[in-house]
Amino acid sequence: MVITTANQHDLSNLVDEIHDLPSFPAAIQRATALSQDPKATAADLAAVIQVDPALTAKILRITNSAFYGLSREICTVKEGVVILGFSAVRSLAVAVSAMKMFTGGESTIFKHEDFWLHSTCSALVAQQISRLGRLPCSDEAFTAGILHDIGKIVLDQYAHQEFILAVLTMRREAKYDLGAERRTINTTHAEIGRQLGERWGLPEPLCETIGNHHAPGTAGKYPMLAMLAALADYICSRNGVPSVANIQCPPAPSNVLSVLKLAPSVLKDVQKQFPDIRLEAEKLIQEV
Ligand SMILES: [Fe+2]
Ligand SMILES: [Fe+2]
Repeated sequence: MVITTANQHDLSNLVDEIHDLPSFPAAIQRATALSQDPKATAADLAAVIQVDPALTAKILRITNSAFYGLSREICTVKEGVVILGFSAVRSLAVAVSAMKMFTGGESTIFKHEDFWLHSTCSALVAQQISRLGRLPCSDEAFTAGILHDIGKIVLDQYAHQEFILAVLTMRREAKYDLGAERRTINTTHAEIGRQLGERWGLPEPLCETIGNHHAPGTAGKYPMLAMLAALADYICSRNGVPSVANIQCPPAPSNVLSVLKLAPSVLKDVQKQFPDIRLEAEKLIQEV
């Protein structure tokens, strides 16, 4: 199939052009603002999140999953905020909302179920590496993992034809190639995802990580989080959970262990746990 750009408009500012791009629910916008307010209390944040029962249920489900390693069951959002911290609960709320926003539509070439399984597995892998390696970015690890490819689902929804053409090109080459997106859409899922994160008012480290996850070596101020997202992305892809079937993502950079100051044993442990991580991710996406 020949990719033509002859009739395309410039899609590089897609996020600005899309007026009906979902904005975050008001509850999440308030939660994001509150989590950055030094005067806000755990009760304030919990009160905002509890307005949405589905969101509350999902947050409790994730908080109590084996991968947070808590010794007792958390039954209220307020307890979750106290134990996990403001930014971790805010991150979970953002991730759950993003999953709820983009569940519609389906194509045989870009399957949303594959996409969310990859994103959720990446979130759990990033979180687990962060915990085992005691990384200083653990609060944002889960969200960076679940949102790193969010631009793909935006492209699929708002530039569907062009995105599918790019995916078909990559499928022929059996690897994810941002160049194919750039040639077809004049932008990339990483760039669109970063713009969406900015529009949603997500913290700067997350926006940068989404934008740099395919070039984490060049990530400006937050190289560790970008490296972690790239590593989790690769681990999932190598273990048969790519975001698009039959397309592998490129390996993480060779200096990933030194940037993350990570012992090789951490990767071996995560590799051993991968079947359980995948099962947990399958359960989480079923409940959305
Ligand atoms: Fe990606
Ligand atoms: Fe990915």
